[in-house]
Amino acid sequence: PTKAGAFLYGVCMFSPCLCRFPPVQVNLPDQRIQVYDSTQKRWRQICSSSANELLASISCEEVGFISVVNYSVTSVPEASGDGGEFFCVRTNELSYGKKIKDSLFPCDCENREVLTIQCQDCGRRSFAVDRIVGGVDSRQGSWPWQVSLQYDGVHQCGGSIISNRWIVSAAHCFPERYRFVNRWRVLLGSIKPVNANVAEVKTIVYHSSYLPFVDSNIDDNSRDIAVLALTQPLTFNENVQPVCLPAYGQRLIDGQMGTVTGWGNVDYYGHLADVLQEVHVPIISDAVCNAPDYYDNQITTTMFCAGFEKGGTDACQGDSGGPYVAEDCLSKMSRYRLLGVVSWGTGCAMPKKPGVYTRVSRFLPWISTAMRNYQNSPGVHKMART
Ligand code: ARG
Repeated sequence: PTKAGAFLYGVCMFSPCLCRFPPVQVNLPDQRIQVYDSTQKRWRQICSSSANELLASISCEEVGFISVVNYSVTSVPEASGDGGEFFCVRTNELSYGKKIKDSLFPCDCENREVLTIQCQDCGRRSFAVDRIVGGVDSRQGSWPWQVSLQYDGVHQCGGSIISNRWIVSAAHCFPERYRFVNRWRVLLGSIKPVNANVAEVKTIVYHSSYLPFVDSNIDDNSRDIAVLALTQPLTFNENVQPVCLPAYGQRLIDGQMGTVTGWGNVDYYGHLADVLQEVHVPIISDAVCNAPDYYDNQITTTMFCAGFEKGGTDACQGDSGGPYVAEDCLSKMSRYRLLGVVSWGTGCAMPKKPGVYTRVSRFLPWISTAMRNYQNSPGVHKMART
């Protein structure tokens, strides 16, 4: 849980911090939820209502925390003055995938009770740290959300832990011949898969509009995303932690550095790495990446590129499904968010052929809907856009 995970917007506490302003925050120590009223330029607390549970869950999601751990109601003292300190909820307008602000209105909050929430902590690692092609060995515990997805004991893809039950990966890791859930294993908690803990898979949900599955002649790799549910919930510790998702509306910033990790080939014609590799590569704008000498308009709005023009560092075969993360302090404390899922590329680490990633921010509703709708449905499912 987000013990120290307070948000304190407007003040950049850490560097490098991007310091954007998402309009929802949870404050310490009591974790009252506050929403910014842009008309009156002030923060308001949320008045307790019959929709507390739903509101708590949607609020955590909106800022990139995958789930709510707890919520409760606290009394506030009598109004201090102008009465402009609360929002009430139009409960019938609240729904997943919508920003909570759209169902809030300023009010007096006569019951004097405000909502307090605690979201699932994410995107943090327990210590400070200063194949992937051209990468370096990672240190134990530095990427605690990274998993290896293995089929019949053989590493196929990477993945990222987003909650105690769910892993995000790429759709292309699950072609028809790999659709027997009980043959998949998730290895986690170690930079060396041989030392890892093993979890079993209950459910696989992949995007039904990942077109190469529909027609193998199609070379549009858009919507390369899947989520997996484990048979047993994970216990988090310093080596096993979920990564945050992007906040709603969070934009990628061209040139921003991120990190891609995996056990994929250390060369295009190489072998898998035995220690988890990491490389740091900047996001490349769509305009540059779609240029004729780059990917000539193959980059769609649900992808992005990351790498250097000269190549040299990149993800590679076997890294697919794994994380591209970047640190920000949208929620005051610096956290890693899953911005991309390793998807494809021409060769590995070649000049002007950077790695291409699924743009996770475009799939937030898809991910949360898949988690809600399939949490009790064992087997392999495809799910359309929501
Ligand atoms: N599709 C590849 C896989 O299955 C990953 C490709 C990533 N390639 C790259 N050059 N970034 O593992």
